[in-house]
Amino acid sequence: MIKFAIVGCGRISKRHSELLGENQISGAKLVSVCDLKLEKAEMIAKKFSINAYECLHDMMKSESIDVVVILTESGLHAKNTIELAPYGAHIVVEKPMALTLDDADKMIEACDKNNIKLFVVKQNRFNVPVVQLRKALDMGRFGKLIMGTVRVRWCRPQSYYDQDAWRGTWAFDGGVLTNQASHHVDLLEWLMGDVESVFAKSKKALADIEAEDTAVVILKFRNGALGLIEATTAIRPKDLEGSITILGEEGSVEIGGFAVNEMKTWNFSKSLEGDDDVIEKYSVNPPNVYGFGHQAYYEHIVDCIKNNSSQLVDGLQGRKSLELINAIYESIETGKEVSLRFSPKHSKLGQI
Ligand SMILES: NC(=O)c1ccc[n+]([C@@H]2O[C@H](COP(=O)([O-])OP(=O)(O)OC[C@H]3O[C@@H](n4cnc5c(N)ncnc54)[C@H](O)[C@@H]3O)[C@@H](O)[C@H]2O)c1
Repeated sequence: MIKFAIVGCGRISKRHSELLGENQISGAKLVSVCDLKLEKAEMIAKKFSINAYECLHDMMKSESIDVVVILTESGLHAKNTIELAPYGAHIVVEKPMALTLDDADKMIEACDKNNIKLFVVKQNRFNVPVVQLRKALDMGRFGKLIMGTVRVRWCRPQSYYDQDAWRGTWAFDGGVLTNQASHHVDLLEWLMGDVESVFAKSKKALADIEAEDTAVVILKFRNGALGLIEATTAIRPKDLEGSITILGEEGSVEIGGFAVNEMKTWNFSKSLEGDDDVIEKYSVNPPNVYGFGHQAYYEHIVDCIKNNSSQLVDGLQGRKSLELINAIYESIETGKEVSLRFSPKHSKLGQI
């Protein structure tokens, strides 16, 4: 059994602790949890009859832990990873891995130095219809890629931002691009290929926060295709969709639903056996916008650790996605098209 511990017992910890604590992941178990607010850790600990801690160092010194899962505020991920790495347990960190590229580099270095694996949670890559789309791309079924688009049209009222001081701040969260849409930004690049440049605009449409709640981005991919990101948390009165469309000269695929979970269109010029069943077979309705992907992601983590197999989203992959997000902010700040492989100068993201 691989022994997992959790640092940070806030909103997303419910999903992680239930998967690990209720033995939903074969070969994994939850041994302890930690939160600066001890009562939050104690609530989870009581449910699974495990130990609760207030201080992550006390937890790491007292328990035998193989993997530690960091579920703290985004702006703290780097600090927490760097202080946890010397304990020698592998690290899983929620998205976004960090806010600045400097921090991402320090996290990768700390994990490499201590000979541990770093996993960044990007559970949407494991969504059932996304896996099918990726297979079709790998088989070359789209021919030349023409365009890739993602839409995040979600509802986050002011009360969502007001529940914790870190939400929507430059230093600890960023806006819709870094938080809610970071999955979709990651998916777009993972599926379409490397990005050459971005041009973006953003605004605070409804939320009273430091960063943006609404943004549009035009992307140029290295393979010549174009892309669009439409991201907002200012949809009212409820979530509309989280979706992706990939268009090629020989095929079109659209995945919609709230959480990139429903295969809507599966059209190819050259059909293969099974194509007619794809829409019905590969659509799932998750209970919330987090989707089902966390379970598949944990199964992947266990496999990587047990068999030393290659990681789908390691520190370098997480950094790549963060580089794209930082380039988008740079374009918003400067009003200019920004090429990738750049050094951020104007991004406020992650700065105190
Ligand atoms: N993958 C997803 O779909 C998804 C969904 C939601 C949130 N997230 C990410 O998860 C992270 C947490 O989000 P949340 O909504 O659960 O936040 P939250 O504010 O509800 O919880 C964070 C918790 O971390 C605790 N904490 C901070 N520093 C600590 C430390 N040093 N030791 C122990 N505990 C500490 C805080 O007290 C708080 O309880 C964010 O980075 C967010 O982007 C990912």
